[in-house]
Amino acid sequence: MSDMMNTLVYFNHQIVPLREAQVNILTHALHYGTGVFEGIRGYWVKDQEELFLVRCEDHYRRFKLNSRMLDIDPPKSAEELTEITLELIRRNNFQTDVYIRPLAYTSTPRIGVRPDGKFDFTIVAVPFGVYMDSTKGLHAGVVTWRRLEDHALPARGKICGAYVNSVLATNEAHRHGYDEAILLNEDGHVAEGATCNIFMVRNGKLITPPPSDNILEGLTRACVMELARRELHLEVVERSIDRSELYTCDEVFFTGTAMEVAPIIKVDGHAVGCGNIGFITGHLRELYFQATRGRIADYHAWLHGAYQPVAAG
Ligand SMILES: Cc1ncc(COP(=O)(O)O)c(C=O)c1O
Repeated sequence: MSDMMNTLVYFNHQIVPLREAQVNILTHALHYGTGVFEGIRGYWVKDQEELFLVRCEDHYRRFKLNSRMLDIDPPKSAEELTEITLELIRRNNFQTDVYIRPLAYTSTPRIGVRPDGKFDFTIVAVPFGVYMDSTKGLHAGVVTWRRLEDHALPARGKICGAYVNSVLATNEAHRHGYDEAILLNEDGHVAEGATCNIFMVRNGKLITPPPSDNILEGLTRACVMELARRELHLEVVERSIDRSELYTCDEVFFTGTAMEVAPIIKVDGHAVGCGNIGFITGHLRELYFQATRGRIADYHAWLHGAYQPVAAG
């Protein structure tokens, strides 16, 4: 724990040890959930002596757009935030996989929801390995909690308070013995997992819910769609998915920065397809793995190398 407290983080516009990065208990965001965050992964590739950040600028672009929903906007560009993140990696001399957590939050210590325009932002990078072991395939279950509606609390916003919805769903899923929750939206369509997007393979097509079905527009989702089209020549369709389709389709998997590409072999106790990891899912998981480790030149544009610039692909 004390090692972790020595980790260098970005806080109040400077790089300080985590132990010095403290907020007041009356901080507005702590009470009202008025923060926006991101989750970015970095992969250490030993044979290249390099740590690759995956779609870092895209994460920061989403971060800045989402922050605007709360009338806050970190006064740095996505490029500058990426530079700070790379500097953090280097200053910590990380030679391991990492997870980066940027957070912008309303910072005034006071009671009352009315915003006062004051906010701060911070970036923490910590060593991070496997989020959920999906090597044998996951068992997912539909929970009774519904995905947040855009007209109540936008799921696409990655807003701190909105993650109570994910926590409730995760708790229910775990109580029922599932690895991960699947949330339906108010229309009864499949939206996503608690912290990840969902795909199914049906009749040779890769299908995923559209942004208007109350999903977070995941960057891993975008990567997988691109890999499926370019590398596997699959038709990729964004359309609403019914719960019963998850029981009758050939393959189902989750995607997310933390989750990566995670095969699902059972939904609500029903075996998906033959009950094994699907062929297309396995392929996409491997392609995503290779691309995010800088091993496929066509996808170098997704990556920022912390220790040396990525060679143009
Ligand atoms: C609710 C939710 N859906 C989907 C995702 C996947 O998004 P990404 O692939 O950008 O990490 C996440 C993770 O950030 C999430 O929290």
